[in-house]
Amino acid sequence: MSTVHRHHIAVIGTGYVGLTAGACLASLGHRVVCADMDPDKVERLTRGEIPILEESLPELVREGLDSGLLTFVLGAEKAICDAETVFVCVGTPMSPDGDLDMTAVDAVADEIRDLLPHGCALVTKSTVPVGTAARLTRRLDRPDVAVVSNPEFLREGTSVHDFLHPDRVVVGADDREAAERVAALYATLDAPMVITDAASAELIKYAANCFLAVKLSYVNVIAELCERVGADVGQVATAMGKDHRIGGAFLRPGPGWGGSCLPKDTRAMLRTAETADVDFQLLRAAIDVNIHQRERIADKIARLCGTDSATPLDGVRIGVLGLTFKAGTDDMRDSPAVALAGALARLGAELVAYDPVLTVGGTPAAPVPDVTVVDDPYEAGKGAACLVLCTEWPEFRDLDWNLMAKALDRPLVVDTRNHLDPEALRAAGIAWHGVGVRPVTGLAGDPVTGTADSPVTEQRPAAVPQPG
Ligand code: UDX
Repeated sequence: MSTVHRHHIAVIGTGYVGLTAGACLASLGHRVVCADMDPDKVERLTRGEIPILEESLPELVREGLDSGLLTFVLGAEKAICDAETVFVCVGTPMSPDGDLDMTAVDAVADEIRDLLPHGCALVTKSTVPVGTAARLTRRLDRPDVAVVSNPEFLREGTSVHDFLHPDRVVVGADDREAAERVAALYATLDAPMVITDAASAELIKYAANCFLAVKLSYVNVIAELCERVGADVGQVATAMGKDHRIGGAFLRPGPGWGGSCLPKDTRAMLRTAETADVDFQLLRAAIDVNIHQRERIADKIARLCGTDSATPLDGVRIGVLGLTFKAGTDDMRDSPAVALAGALARLGAELVAYDPVLTVGGTPAAPVPDVTVVDDPYEAGKGAACLVLCTEWPEFRDLDWNLMAKALDRPLVVDTRNHLDPEALRAAGIAWHGVGVRPVTGLAGDPVTGTADSPVTEQRPAAVPQPG
């Protein structure tokens, strides 16, 4: 792909956002130098080794390295020397008080303040609080350098696709000419361009992510309601989504939303609202619903296979399928699966989990509190009173359910994503409990009155107790 003008770009920080942005901008024909402070990481990236699981990213990095348009260097100083645009993509984790920790962003600004080439643009791409561009402008004290906000909307697992095929590109600066220069980097993408002021650009990112969180919490409550009134959330959400004003995306119920962005962004937005003296009740409710969703699923599991005591799952073994916060990533940050496992552990359960990307020869890639990680799904189910699917890995649909039925102590699966084919489980004699749908607990061979999305009503006495 060619561009009208090959820009010289520096990218500081090679996490999800920085690495994807760097590789994609190089693929658009720009010359990109990516900097990180971890020498080992820089060395590995220079060899084309990608530290994260991200579709198409290894190929794109390899292409960039081979063409010479993408290079990796140690330290910001080396990256910025002749840059026209400097992207700041360092982490902004959440501090315990709910504020974003801006230490890394501020440290980069301080480090490069006097080294930035004359007239360049400093662009924030990491999610930063509203007002950061204004604050960095004061902190840099370089009138010749424009601070620009260019928020990133990519999803983990599909980040390369999302970067190259965005729904929109947002660029905000109080210096319009600088915003247009940064927008020009994306000239070859077929996407609507929103050029605005810095504060609006910063807020757009939060407003969008928080809206998604509200939408997910909304559908999770609808799912709860469906369970109470005997409706089917699959049918309800599909019909809702046909209304173009609502749209069908982000209407799949699940164990709650998680990941490195939505939980952090919703909390940061609440802080912004508090500071601005705005009572954002709706967003607070969405966060509360998300916590409730995990507790509610844990309680449901306890009702299905526990006792009446205060710790109803005392000594009860529960198998878990999936620990990452969604399929297609190896990221476990704020994973609903881990939160649900924690809730089950608090009820006394002993948890054994399998996740296809977290085990290497039986060694967990990362320790998970309260959970023993194994490298085989049937091992996770072995002797369990219940198998709980938390992450929608496609391969879980193809498990040998007859084998799983033999491994399980009780033939019970709680599918928190409505991901499995209830009929395949029923054929193996396993009771299936989804979210917002009727359970499929009849015996194989019974008349079928529904589909996977609209599960059958029970025809025979349940193999396991029903949730109360
Ligand atoms: C999100 C935003 O989508 C993205 O624009 C932003 O840049 C970063 O945050 P990501 O964190 O990668 O991306 O995950 P996403 O695919 O949005 O999913 C977030 C959470 O919602 C996951 O836990 C996912 O499982 C859950 N989810 C998503 C549902 O439960 N149901 C859905 O229908 C969609």
